[in-house]
Amino acid sequence: MISSNDIRRSFLAYFENAGHRVVPSAPLVPQNDPTLMFVNAGMVPFKNVFTGLETRPYVTAVSSQKCVRAGGKHNDLDNVGYTARHHTFFEMLGNFSFGDYFKPQAIEHAWTLLTKEWGIPADRLTVTVYHTDDEAALLWKQIAGLPDERIIRIATNDNFWSMGDTGPCGPCSEIFYDHGDHIPGGPPGSPDEDGDRFVEIWNLVFMQYEQVDAATRLDLPRPSIDTGMGLERVAAVLQGVHDNYETDTFKALIRASEERTQPATDAASTASHRIIADHLRSSGFLVADGVLPSNEGRGYVLRRIMRRAMRHAHLLGAAEPLMYRLVPALVAEMGVAFPELARAQALIEETLKLEETRFRQTLVNGLRLLDEVTAKMGPGDVLPGDVAFKLYDTFGFPYDLTEDALRSQGQTVDRAGFDVAMAEQKRAARAAWTGSGAKASDTVWFDIVEAKGASEFTGYSGVKGQAQVVALVQGGKQVDRVEAGASVDIVTNQTPFYAESGGQAGDAGLISGDGVAITVSDTSKPLGKLHVHHGTVESGSIAVGDTVSLVVDADKRDRLRANHSATHLLHAALRHRLGGHVTQKGSLVAADRLRFDFSQPRALTAEDIAAVEAEVNAQIRGNRPVSTRLMTPDAAIEAGALALFGEKYGEEVRVLSMGGDDEANYSTELCGGTHVTALGDIGLFKITAESAVASGVRRIEALTGEAARRYMTDQEERLKAAAAALRVRPDEVAARVEVLVEERRRLERELAETKKALAMAGPASGGGAAAPESVGGVGFIGQVLEGLDPKSLRGLIDDAKTTLGSGVAVLVAVNDGRASVAVGVTDNLKDSRSAVDFVRIASAALGGQGGGGRPDFAQAGGPDAAKAADAIAAVRAALALRADAA
Ligand code: ALA
Repeated sequence: MISSNDIRRSFLAYFENAGHRVVPSAPLVPQNDPTLMFVNAGMVPFKNVFTGLETRPYVTAVSSQKCVRAGGKHNDLDNVGYTARHHTFFEMLGNFSFGDYFKPQAIEHAWTLLTKEWGIPADRLTVTVYHTDDEAALLWKQIAGLPDERIIRIATNDNFWSMGDTGPCGPCSEIFYDHGDHIPGGPPGSPDEDGDRFVEIWNLVFMQYEQVDAATRLDLPRPSIDTGMGLERVAAVLQGVHDNYETDTFKALIRASEERTQPATDAASTASHRIIADHLRSSGFLVADGVLPSNEGRGYVLRRIMRRAMRHAHLLGAAEPLMYRLVPALVAEMGVAFPELARAQALIEETLKLEETRFRQTLVNGLRLLDEVTAKMGPGDVLPGDVAFKLYDTFGFPYDLTEDALRSQGQTVDRAGFDVAMAEQKRAARAAWTGSGAKASDTVWFDIVEAKGASEFTGYSGVKGQAQVVALVQGGKQVDRVEAGASVDIVTNQTPFYAESGGQAGDAGLISGDGVAITVSDTSKPLGKLHVHHGTVESGSIAVGDTVSLVVDADKRDRLRANHSATHLLHAALRHRLGGHVTQKGSLVAADRLRFDFSQPRALTAEDIAAVEAEVNAQIRGNRPVSTRLMTPDAAIEAGALALFGEKYGEEVRVLSMGGDDEANYSTELCGGTHVTALGDIGLFKITAESAVASGVRRIEALTGEAARRYMTDQEERLKAAAAALRVRPDEVAARVEVLVEERRRLERELAETKKALAMAGPASGGGAAAPESVGGVGFIGQVLEGLDPKSLRGLIDDAKTTLGSGVAVLVAVNDGRASVAVGVTDNLKDSRSAVDFVRIASAALGGQGGGGRPDFAQAGGPDAAKAADAIAAVRAALALRADAA
């Protein structure tokens, strides 16, 4: 028996031999189409090649593309488990011609591969063509030799394929396999075509058109070929079974499920195992491609898939979380063809385990409520919408899970009632918000969230993407279109732009589309749910509904990532150096710098700073990986994560590990920001300042990467300039400066001494030791001292008093046009003649006021140094007057 893996290999090899380029499957999250939730056909990754927007270095290709049909336009979720051929995840084998070969070769290849390579008997095959496609009908006749009754013309859209409402499309020809008359059903186009006997295995699309909008269909530049064959269906044919779930891959997964629960015994348990096997595949591949369970967008589709499977695990009596234990079987079956699955195995297991552990906490109570209500319902009855809403809101039952639970009784849910309850809850949330004093302008964001849902951030792994414009806001009001020159806030359904939160600044960049270019200066996140791009329309105009390309300023983002990751390293290094009391008090992650405030009672020493800086840089040089996992806040904190980065934590948090998850782990924190993938990307870390912010809170400012390098170069330049000025080598600057400072101190001391000596020794005009004179019978020394340091006055007054023995001395020091005067009175005279009185007189003569001191010594200043001699004369006169008076 040929295995599914061999069928895939043989398909790829057949077309490779026929000159096709083997192209690996693209990720499930579309990279080039914002209108699609998941890649749902093999041609999706080639969409722009068909329309001529993009060229590749090959014109024919072959792939086995991962597809998910859940949640979007093609949604098979509800049927999975109950039919032979529905899957949420499947592989589409396809060969493609981009303007190279067309109908004849496509039909030729398909026929050869099916009947010659794989040996499917020709009489088991029937084909359909679009009713007007005479050419295809003729080719089937000529190439395959099929009789007319097995070339069936179909007039419906079944034979006109399009990937969505817009995009490449064309008439198609489907190949059906007849599983035999023991299975009910008729050929395509017959009244009982819906039976399972004739199964479509391969669809050949003759791509000729591009659907631009509902009214416009253009010719593609060159007619092309897109084909799609479900690997699971053709495996059933080649393995001689009728049911996809009986092929090797599914049998292995179902066996794993049975081994861990109980074997399938009836239709219900068979369906449960099938659902588990199918949903295990979609969950595993979605997680491997970066989707994680959440309550919005793609993440919510994944959560619905996971929880649906988990209810069936519960029905099968699983006492413990089951799904994560089946991942090894999935990896064993499919990990060789899809290495991303093996690479993400730990993440897939952890995510499934967490989701199932959490869901099991409410699952049993929810089912009890459901049982109570349904006990009173009959077959075919409708479950009230408010019960379904309670199951959703309180017990985490996605709507379709409740539907699935009612299915076996033929019961349904009152969808309208569910919607009413949901709308009421939103109204209450808005009322609570508005009541809490929020700005009136916030209502516009509520309007948008309620009408369009939250926007999805796609930028953890990249900086580019496409999106649809869901709202435009100007001056707090929604508008439909904005013209060039205007500022506008733009909301898209998804975006790679990080919106400011958790201390990390928002992204800047460009939004462009058909003739429109918008620069985005910042991105913010009102209500924590909407990514709002603050932009200016540079040219063209933008309208709600437009498809746009978003490109984040990658350089700014790289610098933000480096600074954010460095902040985590800094936090850990500070705790190592200073102790566990260090906790974050604030953080700013800008593109050009980072700032981190933390609790710490004393200033850091130079040694502390050097040690922290060295430790962070050692981590950077270690270049270990940075990884992210999703957990509940409690589980994360239990796992040792520090929950400190200022985010508002939802029911799930991103747990960021730096340095790996093994013993080399350096830091584990909760963080929703964007980070480097390996620590070496930070480049360099440099602390530039350490200061106090408040009592017990210190602040470190730092730089990384190029900014740190530039900072250090600037420092070096300054050092070199200083060395050049000092005429020493840079390493000698410090010692040289120390010597210079010491020398300067010594010189100052010497200079003061010299001036003093000079003052006392020089001629009278510049000072000089004035000879004592007698004024009114009292000894008197009066002298002007040019350039004398005023600090020397007191010592000189003491000298003068000694010289006088008994008397009054007045000295005026003159420096830079200012005068300082000091008066001394010997102790025997101080009771009758106060130095304070004399100094006031001298000061007044110098244009100053006051002065102070004691009766034996007083000092004052004055602005008018030219009056120095007058000041002395004034004191002399006052002394004489006193003598006269006496
Ligand atoms: N794109 C075609 C399909 O999905 C082949 O059926």
